[in-house]
Amino acid sequence: MDIKISPSVLASDFANLESELKKCAVGGAELIHLDVMDGHFVPNISIGAPVIAALDKVCDTPFDVHLMISDPLFYIDDFIKAGADIITFHVECESDIEKTIDKIVDAGCKAALAVKPNTPIEAVYPYLDKLSMVLVMTVEPGFGGQSFMESTMPKIKELRAKCPELDIQVDGGINADTIKIAGRAGANVFVAGSAVFKSDDPAATIKLLKENAEC
Ligand code: DX5
Ligand code: ZN
Repeated sequence: MDIKISPSVLASDFANLESELKKCAVGGAELIHLDVMDGHFVPNISIGAPVIAALDKVCDTPFDVHLMISDPLFYIDDFIKAGADIITFHVECESDIEKTIDKIVDAGCKAALAVKPNTPIEAVYPYLDKLSMVLVMTVEPGFGGQSFMESTMPKIKELRAKCPELDIQVDGGINADTIKIAGRAGANVFVAGSAVFKSDDPAATIKLLKENAEC
């Protein structure tokens, strides 16, 4: 499986997003992870479609948009217009899952489903045929800078055994050490916020993460 690093801009300097994204390109990041929070599905509010649309004009790296919102179906058009390449939403949301996936895929975008740490991985099984990726959260969604939950690894192992070719993403507490644990479990797409943007050299950290993911 191809290893992909997806830096989460949630941990970046919001006053200088364009230059923060340039550092990701220098580091060879395959994706840019954009966390959208509505203050309802999670107890926090972050960025929305207008910010993503502005960033799309200054960044060539594909956008991996992680919707932590209660009603993703209502907002899919906005995120497609904003330039999302992959749209991930939560299986625990209030929208109709099938309709939301279809809306994303019909618009020519890639659809992914996310599961919170306490949600069984079987929850995504009915939709696997239509999904480009599954995100196994390795922290409770809502905040950056939390500690990696190794207890979520059995879900990754189970999914990888079932789907050898599927992109399996992990998000939360990924750093140069925990990426090895998640990689060995079977993940191949790695979100990293604090580890990248709070480091002295984000581009070098992205390269190090990629090396360690292959260990
Ligand atoms: C958390 C977000 C993550 C967050 C990860 O709910 O989905 O993408 O930015 O941050 P770190 O890598 O700092 O745990
Ligand atoms: Zn995220």
